[in-house]
Amino acid sequence: MGIVLIWSLVMILTRWISHKRRGAISYDSENQTALYIRMLDVRVRSQVGFEPEPRGSHPYLYVDFRTLHSRPQSAGPVSARNVRRLLSFQRYLHSSRFIRGIPASNPLGYILDDDYTGQAKLMLEKVGNWNFDMFLFDRLTNGNSLVNLTFHLFNSYGLIELFQLDMVKLRRFLVMIQEDYRSLNPYHNAVHAADVTQAMYCYLQEPKLAETMTSCDLLLGLLAAATHDLDHPGVNQPFLIKTNHYLAALYKNSSVLENHHWKSAVGLLRESALLSHLPTEDRLNMEERLGSLILATDISRQNNYLSEFRTHLDKRDLCLTNGRHRHFILQIALKCADICNPCRPWKLSKLWSEKVTEEFFHQGDIERKHHLEVTPLCDRQSNSVANIQIGFMTYVVEPLFVEWSRFSDTRLSQTMMGHLSLNKQGWKEGRDKQEANTSRASEEQRTSAAKDSNSKELPQGSKRS
Ligand SMILES: *[C@@H]1O[C@H](CO)[C@@H](O)[C@H](O)[C@H]1NC(C)=O
Ligand SMILES: *[C@@H]1O[C@H](CO)[C@@H](O)[C@H](O)[C@H]1NC(C)=O
Ligand SMILES: *[C@@H]1O[C@H](CO)[C@@H](O)[C@H](O)[C@H]1NC(C)=O
Ligand SMILES: *[C@@H]1O[C@H](CO)[C@@H](O)[C@H](O)[C@H]1NC(C)=O
Ligand SMILES: [Zn+2]
Repeated sequence: MGIVLIWSLVMILTRWISHKRRGAISYDSENQTALYIRMLDVRVRSQVGFEPEPRGSHPYLYVDFRTLHSRPQSAGPVSARNVRRLLSFQRYLHSSRFIRGIPASNPLGYILDDDYTGQAKLMLEKVGNWNFDMFLFDRLTNGNSLVNLTFHLFNSYGLIELFQLDMVKLRRFLVMIQEDYRSLNPYHNAVHAADVTQAMYCYLQEPKLAETMTSCDLLLGLLAAATHDLDHPGVNQPFLIKTNHYLAALYKNSSVLENHHWKSAVGLLRESALLSHLPTEDRLNMEERLGSLILATDISRQNNYLSEFRTHLDKRDLCLTNGRHRHFILQIALKCADICNPCRPWKLSKLWSEKVTEEFFHQGDIERKHHLEVTPLCDRQSNSVANIQIGFMTYVVEPLFVEWSRFSDTRLSQTMMGHLSLNKQGWKEGRDKQEANTSRASEEQRTSAAKDSNSKELPQGSKRS
């Protein structure tokens, strides 16, 4: 009885903390919002071993992306150390929960866990399958898909022994990564990161890569996939720039998000001391390569990567015994993994599309509310999931995957291209039906309006002019 009581208290406390930390929507008082935003204002991780990101020294219009509260005036000062203590306590609980395998927050977890665990394990046996359903896996692991999947992949590649990684540090590190994704983002959350990691694994298993990648390449490829959107704010770079967000100033308006993901990942690597037993030079080298991989996911640079890739393929000069070429292929593979949603089976692909659109439209709503220019892509009044997807597939996804298929002409590539074309067709048909429906509806409206006009004996032409 006592234990149950203490456990419940601990759970309530943990959930309260993570609630606060992730920027929950429901607050009982304005002051708690203020407190929380101040907590967020302290870049805890970056103070450990990395150049501090000086908040406050750059004036910025603070928009709390999730609560839509504008910057609160005052709340008592919260010291960085207090925040750190709060966070490490939470992490301690999370990692010890992981080690002991106690279910996270689902009260039914006690009952369902055995069954779920069994199903999750079965899924991992087919982790290289392109139909892998990350949404399902996330439910079966009680929201721990990223930790669970990444740990499994590290383990199955033998990276833990090869790099003599400390299991406890590794789990803590992975839990920290998962926690630093914002679970309230409809799209850019830990499930997306897990999905990208799974896709990256599929690509690493392709013959050309499997035969040549070193264990260091594999480690970095998986790490980069797992961390590539770390602490994503759920809005895009232009938004950060036009709201004078401190990150835009810090990274001089250039690859703002990607730089932030990378620096956050390095912060966590250093805080967890996961690689602290390696020679400094190797460690720094890995941090640099990690950055170069994550920065490659900046979609606005896609054309540079794509034309370099094309040139290599035309000249047939890619030589994967060359470390620089292997790194380049890892960059391309990560880019593919990041935007591979349209190449998944329709059911999964459609879900991702809806989620990313929800996030875009949310940004558009904030822009409208704060009288900023509404990004066309984010405008729910003038855009639709189908339109966004068709454009994205045509101008971003297809060009990249066409080249990838040239590079790796395998069954997987054919499967992906097949889904891509079917999914595009699916959105087009949906849009056409929608348009037919809309025009039929407006036709009916017009007819009934015309009837109304007729009954009132108004001249037909007056309606149109
Ligand atoms: C918030 O705190 C301030 C003092 O820090 C106090 O004056 C104010 O009444 C509080 N507001 C609420 C809603 O609790
Ligand atoms: C992943 O989940 C399965 C099933 O829930 C569990 O057996 C396994 O221990 C988990 N692995 C990690 C690293 O947490
Ligand atoms: C970033 O862009 C904004 C808006 O265009 C501009 O005002 C600002 O000076 C730029 N900052 C840097 C460091 O280039
Ligand atoms: C078309 O309209 C009908 C009835 O108004 C609705 O049931 C159907 O779902 C619509 N179809 C599409 C594709 O929007
Ligand atoms: Zn991403």
